[in-house]
Amino acid sequence: MELLKEKILKEGRVEEGNILKVDSFLNHQLDIELLNEIGKEFKKRFKNENITKILTIETSGIAIGAITAQYFNVPVLFARKTESKNLDNETYESNVYSYTKEKNYKIRVAERYLNENDRVLLIDDFLANGKALLGLIDITKQAKATLVGAGIVIEKGFQHGGDNLRNNGIRVDSLAIIDSLEDGKIVFR
Ligand code: G4P
Ligand code: NA
Ligand code: NA
Repeated sequence: MELLKEKILKEGRVEEGNILKVDSFLNHQLDIELLNEIGKEFKKRFKNENITKILTIETSGIAIGAITAQYFNVPVLFARKTESKNLDNETYESNVYSYTKEKNYKIRVAERYLNENDRVLLIDDFLANGKALLGLIDITKQAKATLVGAGIVIEKGFQHGGDNLRNNGIRVDSLAIIDSLEDGKIVFR
């Protein structure tokens, strides 16, 4: 998606540890005009898939999930990372390993909001090693829902989470794939 790539080149900052900061439009301040274009692009790509639910993960997934959901006219459901009184007792749970924090955390979704009649589109802001996405896929399976695929805003291609999923037959559509951040230079695939 050209508009997104231009924005990344203009406002993205490469930081130590191969981290791309995009907090001016995606991870802190939100550029709603751009997010709307991203939502429309996901709709264009998945329009024939009869999506019934968008599944994402807090925190950063919520904004892009909610914007995208408007174009599909379906609810967006976000997995929680912390225990919450707003969550039922009956939950699907999965363990996710975070490379950046070097520890496992649990994600949860209430059983009542996801079931075998659902056709699920996963949405997330970043895809790096793909562990968070694997957790969402696990929960989709537990619910016996149909996994249609994943829509990702920025994929870090050099961390291989996306290609591992594709090699397992999962459709992963990323709007920008970055193959290198070496020497502070952003190189797209
Ligand atoms: P993984 O999910 O792909 O396995 O990666 P990891 O656990 O290492 O990622 C930790 C967090 O950092 C994730 O968000 C992920 O989306 C984000 N992330 C990974 N690489 C980058 C990057 O280069 N730039 C930015 N901006 N984010 C990156 P999270 O902890 O779930 O955070 P949040 O959703 O609560 O904001
Ligand atoms: Na995220
Ligand atoms: Na994040």
